[in-house]
Amino acid sequence: MERQVCILMGSPRKTGNTAALLRPFTAELEKLGCRCETVWLYDLDLRPCRACRTCQRDWNIFGCAIRDDMEDIFRQVLACEVLVLATPIYSWYCTPPMKAVLDRLVYGMNKYYGEKKGPALWAGKAVALVTTCGYPPEKGADLWESGVKRYCKHSQLRYLGMLAGHDHGYNSVFMEDEKAYRAREFARSLILNTEK
Ligand SMILES: Cc1cc2nc3c(=O)[nH]c(=O)nc-3n(C[C@H](O)[C@H](O)[C@H](O)COP(=O)(O)O)c2cc1C
Repeated sequence: MERQVCILMGSPRKTGNTAALLRPFTAELEKLGCRCETVWLYDLDLRPCRACRTCQRDWNIFGCAIRDDMEDIFRQVLACEVLVLATPIYSWYCTPPMKAVLDRLVYGMNKYYGEKKGPALWAGKAVALVTTCGYPPEKGADLWESGVKRYCKHSQLRYLGMLAGHDHGYNSVFMEDEKAYRAREFARSLILNTEK
């Protein structure tokens, strides 16, 4: 059966660097038989978590009280085998809609915050990162990766790794053969790591 990959895309730029890095990555996954679904977060209505904890009442559903596009993302994430978080680095972390999604999911998926501790509805799911940043990745994307690793441990998710592309500035060409090569290699490594 083909693998379902859900790519949450947190860049506001449709023709930006993160989108360019995603192209060879997605193409390789599709060549390997995956079905990739890309969700452009900036196109959606995604509001921040309000910490009302309505989502903790029923352990079988998302249960969020906010009526926006998050319920669809919840369903897509639950249905996929590999979740890819793609984002440019903004102030050493992800962009605002990605942060809103992470907050809504950490509560909606993990029923840890009610009277009694419940399950993580997405336990065991694989997570990978695709990111681009202005600093060299070890100084630009390190905090984002550390945060997501901790998020995954807390949420019982399986962290698979990060593909990071360095943006050398507005006057340089971002995409180059080496980046495309690493993107394809990263896609292959994800498949090997999720082999049944
Ligand atoms: C508001 C803003 C904040 C940024 N903050 C950082 C940062 O903290 N660290 C970094 O390495 N790059 C930072 N950058 C650079 C972007 O991460 C980089 O240019 C990225 O490749 C842009 O991706 P995009 O073309 O998909 O938007 C920032 C860019 C913007 C617009």
